[in-house]
Amino acid sequence: MAKITVIGSISTDFVVETAKLPAMGETVEGKSFQTSFGGKGANQAVACARLGAETVMLGAVGQDVFGQQLLANLRANDIHTDNVERVTQSSGSAFITLFDSDNAIVYVAGANGLYGPDSVDKVMDQSAVFQTSDLVLIQNETPADTVRHVIERCSQLNIPLLLNPAPARELAPAYLDKVTFLTPNETEFAVLFPDETMDSVLKRYPNKLIITLGSKGAMYYDGESIQTVPPVQIDQVVDTTGAGDTFNGAFAYAFSSGLPIRDSIRFGNIAAGLSIQKAGAQTGAPTLRQMKEHESFEKEWDFK
Ligand code: RIB
Repeated sequence: MAKITVIGSISTDFVVETAKLPAMGETVEGKSFQTSFGGKGANQAVACARLGAETVMLGAVGQDVFGQQLLANLRANDIHTDNVERVTQSSGSAFITLFDSDNAIVYVAGANGLYGPDSVDKVMDQSAVFQTSDLVLIQNETPADTVRHVIERCSQLNIPLLLNPAPARELAPAYLDKVTFLTPNETEFAVLFPDETMDSVLKRYPNKLIITLGSKGAMYYDGESIQTVPPVQIDQVVDTTGAGDTFNGAFAYAFSSGLPIRDSIRFGNIAAGLSIQKAGAQTGAPTLRQMKEHESFEKEWDFK
């Protein structure tokens, strides 16, 4: 069984759907409102666990009622939460506007912003959580110094690390060199590699840099040529929130289970496609059984 450790944000999403975006100073009437479980870290952990990975979550929530609910949701998804800290800050939150089949997000770190390098060291020094992981996943809703610290320590210990650089934030090339996989979308790519073309950067990072292109699939360089891995066709898009997280979690699961990179990307694309057919960042993350029912699932993909 794949064992995956996810370090990252655990947040409540406050989601408004609207047919018209308000200008500054304007009020418009929205179509619907709901709260749901989110946070890029938690979404990726749920994606891994639904597929069957043994999943450990590291992060922080507040001592408020949201913190309790966020922890209960992780546990309900069979995610180990022993190393999730309860801190005095309010739990993290995200304010999401759904408009025209896309989303716009304002993220407030709250407790997520308190998960520092010391917290990582405590887990690394007092347990074998990292050392026994097939892959570690981290994103940018965690403080920048924590992300850099995790990159250094995983590199020293030879633990494979996937950095999903979302939301966009600059990072020195010395750190990029040390990660196993880097999965920006087009916006994040432009912040990480300003004034550079995708082709030239892809060739610099063979089998490491995977650029996700939303409805156009994903690209990577296999050492010989640039590969585009197409998405699956989806008839009805309900909510794209969390699709990138589901891709990252599913890719991590597939690669940790022994699939080659291209097949792991194809697997991630199917999972992301299934996820956008349901409302909420985590609701649509598929189980392995749902993946196997999809027409693009390859019978020879053998998951123990
Ligand atoms: O990637 C989607 C997630 O990012 C949402 O669940 C929300 O928490 C945001 O920060």
